[in-house]
Amino acid sequence: MDPTQLGWRLGRSLTPRGVELWVRYDRTTGVYGAQGSGKTLDLLAPALLAHPGAAIATLTKLDDLLLTLAERQAPPGGPDSGGPARPVAVLDPFRMAPGVPELVWDPISGCVDPMLAERRAKAFSAGTVTGAVAGGRADSAARFYAAETAKVLQGFFHAAALTGRTLEHVLEWVANPVAAEQPAEILRQHVHAARFWDGLLSGALHGSADTVGNTVTTVQQAMSLFFQPSIRARCVPGPGRPATDLADLLAHRGTVYLLGREDPYASASPLMTAVAEHVLDTALAIANTSPHGRVTPSFLACLDELPSTTPLPTLRVRMANERALGLSFVYAAQTWRQMVVCYGEDEARSLFGLTNNIVIFGGGRTSTSTKRCPTCSAPPVSPGRASPTAPAASAPTAPSKTSRYCGPSRSGSSPSARPWSSPRTPHR
Ligand SMILES: Nc1ncnc2c1ncn2[C@@H]1O[C@H](COP(=O)(O)OP(=O)(O)O)[C@@H](O)[C@H]1O
Ligand SMILES: [Mg+2]
Repeated sequence: MDPTQLGWRLGRSLTPRGVELWVRYDRTTGVYGAQGSGKTLDLLAPALLAHPGAAIATLTKLDDLLLTLAERQAPPGGPDSGGPARPVAVLDPFRMAPGVPELVWDPISGCVDPMLAERRAKAFSAGTVTGAVAGGRADSAARFYAAETAKVLQGFFHAAALTGRTLEHVLEWVANPVAAEQPAEILRQHVHAARFWDGLLSGALHGSADTVGNTVTTVQQAMSLFFQPSIRARCVPGPGRPATDLADLLAHRGTVYLLGREDPYASASPLMTAVAEHVLDTALAIANTSPHGRVTPSFLACLDELPSTTPLPTLRVRMANERALGLSFVYAAQTWRQMVVCYGEDEARSLFGLTNNIVIFGGGRTSTSTKRCPTCSAPPVSPGRASPTAPAASAPTAPSKTSRYCGPSRSGSSPSARPWSSPRTPHR
């Protein structure tokens, strides 16, 4: 039997020594560890390499893309199997990977449907939170303005889609939202406009000058990448550049890569979050229309550096509902604090509670290594370790029980090295 049909390899246990650890695709995994601790190289990249089905992967570095790109393009049985190559599409707003097949995506497409317009707007605005907090705004304020931003953007997307307008028109409105009369007019007058959305729009754009000013700034931040003509031309359909057919790509076991970068001036997170939501919705639609009632083989979402790449507002609900439909989730973050900033304490804890396996890489000097486990209050790793310590997770032999690794102080053992050999290139 090929175990990669059922799950991905996590590593080998230290205690008891040498037991192979695998994570079933219907189990979710959260990976925490400081930068450079091995989250990508030791866990996420190998999981993606071995995965036989369609996948989405978020990335912050070109190196991480190159770790898996060629392999993910190869036919299912390997380069020599003679089968057809698997498709890939890379959303690459900063042109870090010239020459790779590009992902072209239209943010307005489909927004005639108010439900889709709302989800898309919320995804774009969720991507502003981490940047706003890093810029000095408190996280609760950042989340408030993200919610106000969503009301504005959903109205703009819906109004544009209803009247056949394009992203260019939306950007014209975003450049000066308070003065833009067209979208409010469309939402008031159009026979198919969602009722009351003109009220939501004007409520978010009228009120105290401070509040409106912050909302406008956040709306512009959510769409900021598109204000760069070269980025817009690269990501959005144009003459001779149709939008990528995501359903077709996923049906052929393809891979969607979202390649961002750490950039304090131009965060790709709003755009990447919105595209990721669309890809996950597409995978869900495949599951719902499949005769098996699920995606086969499973679809893998490898959400690396989740808080800074794709802080999906829907992640908790998806992890709860969709893992049974063949959508598998692995996310990575550097610290627990990052998760709290994005999601708020309550939502972050719920997300943590829903994660079947928690893998913690110790050794960093960030709050990850000293923070207490949010659910059991045990310190995740022994403080002061200088070298990367052992992550671990539930053994596949006890699949019905959620088990969490909370470090040596909880288990009573003290791993002195990584529990498995970790070569500097991802293992297959
Ligand atoms: N392509 C590579 N070749 C060699 N070493 C690498 C490569 N990518 C990362 N590393 C090193 O491996 C270690 C783990 O990196 P990585 O998995 O990217 O960390 P994380 O994802 O936790 O930030 C780091 O010390 C990093 O410098
Ligand atoms: Mg990484």
